[in-house]
Amino acid sequence: MITHNTILGLKDDLLRERGVVKNVGFVPTMGALHEGHLELMRRAKAENEILVVSIFVNPIQFNNKEDLAKYPRVLDTDSQLLESVGCDYLFAPSEMEMYPEPDNINYDFGLMGEVMEGAFRPGHFNGVAIVVRKLFEIVEPQRAYFGEKDFQQLAVIQQLVKMFNLPVEIVSCAIVRENDGLAMSSRNMRLTPEERAVAPKIHLILQKAVKLRNVLSPEELRRWTYDQLEAVEEFNIDYVEIADSELLQPIQHWNDCPESILFVALFLGKVRLIDNMRIF
Ligand code: PAJ
Repeated sequence: MITHNTILGLKDDLLRERGVVKNVGFVPTMGALHEGHLELMRRAKAENEILVVSIFVNPIQFNNKEDLAKYPRVLDTDSQLLESVGCDYLFAPSEMEMYPEPDNINYDFGLMGEVMEGAFRPGHFNGVAIVVRKLFEIVEPQRAYFGEKDFQQLAVIQQLVKMFNLPVEIVSCAIVRENDGLAMSSRNMRLTPEERAVAPKIHLILQKAVKLRNVLSPEELRRWTYDQLEAVEEFNIDYVEIADSELLQPIQHWNDCPESILFVALFLGKVRLIDNMRIF
């Protein structure tokens, strides 16, 4: 694996590669890699000749200073994991390299960008879109891989690609979970042992909830899930929503859309966790 910290260095190598190989698969990350990330990479490696991974803790997508300061940074361990999945190029730029001057673009993702994460983390998706578009321009991948763990982010990126006709195929990948059901996340490292023991209740409650689809309306099911989560003393809920999988808008009736998803965001101690599950 070759590591580049500069845009020019990476672009130079990729230009040479492209003369010989066909496809570049790209997985953008913020590091502190876990099995969820590695699954995206294994798939990208299997489906493309070259795998490029970026690790960049993107400051402009954090709306909470403490979250940014405490975000785990473990580049050495990450590099070893990347070697193990056959990553060809790691791009790990500095903040100055990515943002030599402030980027003031304002993307409008419409209603999709206003709900859930959009409402609770103002500016978050704008920051994500700015960095992902920049990374696409640097790497010029044929395919880019994103996890359904961040379902709304995936929808926003798909919208970004559509809005600007970006020449990249977005591939979505299923949520990878720990054995006890907790969705893998770099932030899980920050949970205390006690919090870590309580965290799988999110998945347990989501699993029970989706089974009630035939007996409850969307609003009743949303309320039921909210109440179950609220009953767990350690949880501090941001939102519970049932929304359609395309525009992420709350639904009134099950047959309003072909596919609906139950979304949750909550604080467990100081750590904010999100999860979601399809409702069949
Ligand atoms: P990060 O949180 O590091 O996640 C990188 C990618 O891994 C995202 O597409 C995310 O959805 C996926 N991922 C994380 N946990 C997962 C899990 N348990 N199962 C499946 N996929 C999982 O998301 C970001 O970084 C940033 O916003 C980024 C897109 C890199 C822009 O800065």
